[in-house]
Amino acid sequence: MPLSSRHLLGLDGIPSDDIKLILDTATSFREVLERPIKKVPSLQGKTVVNLFFENSTRTRISFELAERRLSADPVNMSADASSVRKGETLKDTARNIEMMKIDMVVMRHAAAGAAHYLSQVVRANVINAGDGAHEHPTQALLDMYTIREKLGTLQDVNICIVGDIAHSRVALSNIYGLRAMGAKVSVCGPRTLIPAEIDRLGVRVHYDLDEAMAGADVLNVLRIQLERQDRCFLPTLREYSQAYGVTPERLARAKRPIVVMHPGPINRGVEISADVADGEHSLILQQVLNGVAVRMSVLYLLGTAN
Ligand code: CP
Repeated sequence: MPLSSRHLLGLDGIPSDDIKLILDTATSFREVLERPIKKVPSLQGKTVVNLFFENSTRTRISFELAERRLSADPVNMSADASSVRKGETLKDTARNIEMMKIDMVVMRHAAAGAAHYLSQVVRANVINAGDGAHEHPTQALLDMYTIREKLGTLQDVNICIVGDIAHSRVALSNIYGLRAMGAKVSVCGPRTLIPAEIDRLGVRVHYDLDEAMAGADVLNVLRIQLERQDRCFLPTLREYSQAYGVTPERLARAKRPIVVMHPGPINRGVEISADVADGEHSLILQQVLNGVAVRMSVLYLLGTAN
């Protein structure tokens, strides 16, 4: 069964069968990652261009590793070292690259909708690696994989996304994906960081973290975007940390087995304490490992359906 689309631009409206196929296929690739030789020939002869117009550590390395493990040929381009700095448009950049006979493009861009636009001007398969505050579908897929691996299912699992919901592409993709898979999703944070009508997406809203944790199986903790602090969304980081920081004391008070996730990069001591990030509740590094398998799955399913 192929995926229902030849691109992965977001999880808004994605059929649950597509998510299930990606997660199930990722399970096979997770096994490949445990082998002494972590490589399969599935995408031999395919060329994948990784276009990163914004900084990235995890997503960029994870995609490149996934491509290499599938025997594809990755080509990396960052905006700082390209003709984008000379004023070249996204359309011209993409169409020039495409003339060099590439098969797939993975793109991170600061503009919401950039991946969708790219999919309309190139013939290659497009994978969105994060577009502004819009979507980050492979992050949400690896989050869902990690929850399913830990708890055995996504159906009826209570997942609370904590932090800067308003500016988070990770939050939006998680909400779309988790709701499609039958999970119960809530969000928690200060009023300034939660969009006014987010409940229309079928999520519960909490402004008190202890109250949110009383019913949660999973906390997905988001990074406080320090680069936005000049916009006065928060009084001070110290107050944010007191009200919304995930600490061992809070987890103990919740009196239920909550697992803690974070897409990274983390601000230790702000949204999550170092003890929690490195402790027994944390799945943060497991998310990173699973990310390679999930991205292999997406690349494989799109790259072999042509
Ligand atoms: N989670 C995530 O997108 O991290 P990077 O910005 O390092 O890719």
